[in-house]
Order: sequence, then structure tokens, then C-alpha cells
Amino acid sequence: MNGFEVKEIKAEETYRVRHSELRKGRPLEECKFAGDERETTIHIGGFYQNQLVAVATFLKQDHADCGFQNAYQLRGMAVVKEHHKKGFGKILLTFAEALLLQKVIPCIWMNARIGAVDFYKKLGYGTIGNVFEIPKIGMHYVMFKKLY
Ligand SMILES: CC(C)(COP(=O)(O)OP(=O)(O)OC[C@H]1O[C@@H](n2cnc3c(N)ncnc32)[C@H](O)[C@@H]1OP(=O)(O)O)[C@@H](O)C(=O)NCCC(=O)NCCS
Repeated sequence: MNGFEVKEIKAEETYRVRHSELRKGRPLEECKFAGDERETTIHIGGFYQNQLVAVATFLKQDHADCGFQNAYQLRGMAVVKEHHKKGFGKILLTFAEALLLQKVIPCIWMNARIGAVDFYKKLGYGTIGNVFEIPKIGMHYVMFKKLY
């Protein structure tokens, strides 16, 4: 969409959107993920009219069930509610996939909230295994996509 720009950002820039969209009403500390500051971690921000409205973080982390080494885990994917369904999430994730492919990363996986599963499916992600609960957050599926 016109006026939507995607680029790499710093960990601390993600916290505000993570907080409002993923950890509302909870301590800001819960918006910091283990590994946020690791050198291999990649944070992507989406800006609309120069305001940060979308974030996602990619951490170097394998998942036994995905069967890939050197995989990345997507965490903290969120678009500010008033901007949902404008294509911003899709643009951001597609940008991140291209970036990871350039780095020869074979696979992205995530613990996907039930409400986001169909969004990820539209972008080519598939579920593995059964639904499971993450305490205080809700039901999830592991989903993954092979990048090459
Ligand atoms: C899930 C989320 C990131 C999607 O972002 P978005 O910018 O609204 O999604 P897009 O507009 O790019 O949607 C891309 C496609 O997925 C569809 N889609 C988006 N959200 C969907 C949902 N929750 N369920 C089903 N389809 C969805 C869109 O209709 C669109 O389909 P199209 O290509 O056929 O037109 C956003 O809804 C969000 O931040 N949700 C709250 C936080 C959250 O749950 N994050 C995921 C944690 S695992």
C-alpha cells in the first residue's frame, strides 16, 4: 500500500506495538523477549505515514519438528489494530522472508495464535502437530514455511 515502508529496527522500538497488540494491560517487561538483543536477531518495523504500526522479530532458533537447521523463529508479529486488513502484515512478512532468504535461512516457524493461523496460511505457512496452550496468552499451533 502507498505510504507503507518496511525496514530493520532496534529491539526497543518494537516494545510499544508489542505491548498494545500482544500484551495489553500487562507489564512492559513482558514485551521483552529472551534473545531480542542477540546479534543474529532481526527486528522489522512497518511505518505508515512515518508512524511505526507493524512489527515482527526473527530469532535464530531451530524447532525439532520442522526438521531444518539454521531456522528462524518469528515472534511478536503485530499490526496496530486500526490498520488491520490493509495488507501491512503481508508486506512486512514478505519483506522479512526475502531478507532471511538472502541470508540463506531455510525455514521460518512460529507459535501462531489461533486467530492468526489463517493469515499465516494465506502466506504459505502450514501447521505441525496439535493445538496447544501458552499460559496467559491462549491456544496456538506451531506453523512453518520452507523458504527454499
Ligand atoms: C495477524 C495480523 C498480524 C495480520 O496483519 P494484517 O496487516 O491485518 O494482515 P493483512 O492485511 O496483511 O492480511 C493478509 C491476508 O490475510 C488475511 N487475514 C489477515 N488477518 C487475518 C485473520 N486474523 N484471519 C484470517 N485471515 C486474515 C487478509 O484478509 C488478507 O487476505 P487477502 O490477501 O486474501 O486479501 C494482525 O491481525 C495482528 O496484528 N493481530 C493481532 C496480533 C496477533 O495475533 N499477532 C499474531 C501473533 S502469532
